[in-house]
Amino acid sequence: MNIAIRIAAAILSVPPDVLAPMVPPMAPPPRNELESQLRDEIDSALSGSCSSAVTDSAPLFLLSESETNFVNCNSGLPGTDGDLFKKDDELGKPGTYGEITLLGARQLFYHMGLHNNNHEAQNNYQFFDLGSGGGRLVIQSHLELPSVTRSVGIELSPTRHNIAMRRLNELKSNDDLKRIRHLARKSWALDYNHAAAIDLYEGDLFDLDISKATHIYLSSLCFTETMLERIVDKMEAEGSALKIVASLRLLPLGSNQGGRVVALGDKPWQEFVQMTWNRGGDGCPVFFYAVKPTA
Ligand SMILES: C[S@@+](CC[C@H](N)C(=O)[O-])C[C@H]1O[C@@H](n2cnc3c(N)ncnc32)[C@H](O)[C@@H]1O
Repeated sequence: MNIAIRIAAAILSVPPDVLAPMVPPMAPPPRNELESQLRDEIDSALSGSCSSAVTDSAPLFLLSESETNFVNCNSGLPGTDGDLFKKDDELGKPGTYGEITLLGARQLFYHMGLHNNNHEAQNNYQFFDLGSGGGRLVIQSHLELPSVTRSVGIELSPTRHNIAMRRLNELKSNDDLKRIRHLARKSWALDYNHAAAIDLYEGDLFDLDISKATHIYLSSLCFTETMLERIVDKMEAEGSALKIVASLRLLPLGSNQGGRVVALGDKPWQEFVQMTWNRGGDGCPVFFYAVKPTA
């Protein structure tokens, strides 16, 4: 949480959480002029067709009825019975769309420790967005974070996956992907050339190999409780390299009794991060979990 909020909260003798929503969302300040330039470049590269902006006729991410049903019924849940979703009706369904903003992504990266220019660890981070939608967050992590050498997204909806691939291919074809990634390394005073991968998959997050993921983001507002339990089980059973998990909803811990290689910490901390649905507001609460090996 912002240090200014902590100080103000201490002076006023109120918990920091009370003040946080009143402060306009801010990104961590850029380290230098090059990093400011980098952010401008990223903002202009990613705020075009990849944004959730409304087109002349329809929202870009609007799905057909049949695809909405496909996403809602194929979210990796054990059954496809519509009743499964009724428990979580007030939260919407997996077919519902919203995304993290460019500023929100910077806040998220900062709180996950990905913004640290730690020379020792810089080659090891793999950032995974499970339910990556239009892929913007995954692409931004690749462009903006020299600490991340592999950025992975997986998305169930073919329409959203296609949007993500279109954006990625556009950035590759005009060489922006390489150029901006190089600029990021330069702004962190690192060697110019360094291999890094970006993988966008279409499919079910429950089928993805997450054994190399160090940082996982779950835009889980529309995930059901059952789905969240299964995701926790999967992360604790397979996520041997995991360090931090960020989720929009509190995760149901403690159901996973056997076969865990890591454990999600039972004291998540909360930060406020900007999303497209609260752009003008105070940010959306995000829960961060430190992950520890069980052995
Ligand atoms: C709210 S969007 C978030 C997009 C992006 N992660 C962001 O934060 O900007 C969540 C996405 O999760 C996808 N989703 C839901 N269940 C999924 C599953 N089982 N596997 C992969 N994607 C899934 C939905 O189709 C939706 O596009």
